Amino acid sequence: MFSIALSSDARLEPLEVWQAGEFAAHLDRARDHIRPWVGPAFVSDDVDGARRTLARYAASAAEDGARLFGIREDGRLLGGVMFVSFSAPAGQCEIGCWLEPAAEGRGLVTAASRVLLDYALGTRSLNRAEWRCRSDNARSSAVAERLGMTLDGTLRGAWLNGGVFHDKQVWGLTREDHLRSIA
Ligand SMILES: CC(C)(COP(=O)(O)OP(=O)(O)OC[C@H]1O[C@@H](n2cnc3c(N)ncnc32)[C@H](O)[C@@H]1OP(=O)(O)O)[C@@H](O)C(=O)NCCC(=O)NCCS
Repeated sequence: MFSIALSSDARLEPLEVWQAGEFAAHLDRARDHIRPWVGPAFVSDDVDGARRTLARYAASAAEDGARLFGIREDGRLLGGVMFVSFSAPAGQCEIGCWLEPAAEGRGLVTAASRVLLDYALGTRSLNRAEWRCRSDNARSSAVAERLGMTLDGTLRGAWLNGGVFHDKQVWGLTREDHLRSIA
């Protein structure tokens, strides 16, 4: 299976259904930290829920759609990045991410997201990659900015989580932006 270096210690690797136990143990370390910011379906409570999440992504990947990857250090799962959506016919994708708290502040998600951007806008020639986050998720907005994305707008009251409608930022990077940034 593939393994891509993100730093001297960390690597981007597959995260698949057979690894549901490892994913569930990681979510035990990450759950409270990520709950306010990610979709409720992702924050599963047990191994069966973790397996359902991985199976959903695996089924979508088999159709050339959404897919999910893990970030590991010395074999320990610290977080990951995903194509929340991926459509070659429409030329669009959305990238998402999460980390357990101890892994923040080291550039891991920025590095992993660059791999996904290179794949989507370079290898697959999609036209646009998006990053969507709660408007008050400063760490997530900072990643989008670090990736060279443009804040295209704010969708007011667009995301319901925890019984509250939150504003959602939409950041975007076009293929043209991407090619210019790597030229
Ligand atoms: C969003 C989230 C993944 C961002 O994590 P992060 O660690 O801030 O992002 P990165 O992994 O890209 O690391 C950037 C940090 O590492 C630092 N860093 C160190 N080396 C770096 C490098 N080589 N390259 C880039 N940044 C580096 C940066 O300065 C920054 O730290 P700072 O914000 O304290 O200045 C994390 O906060 C999280 O999991 N939050 C909860 C879930 C969530 O919000 N998911 C996104 C939903 S939209």
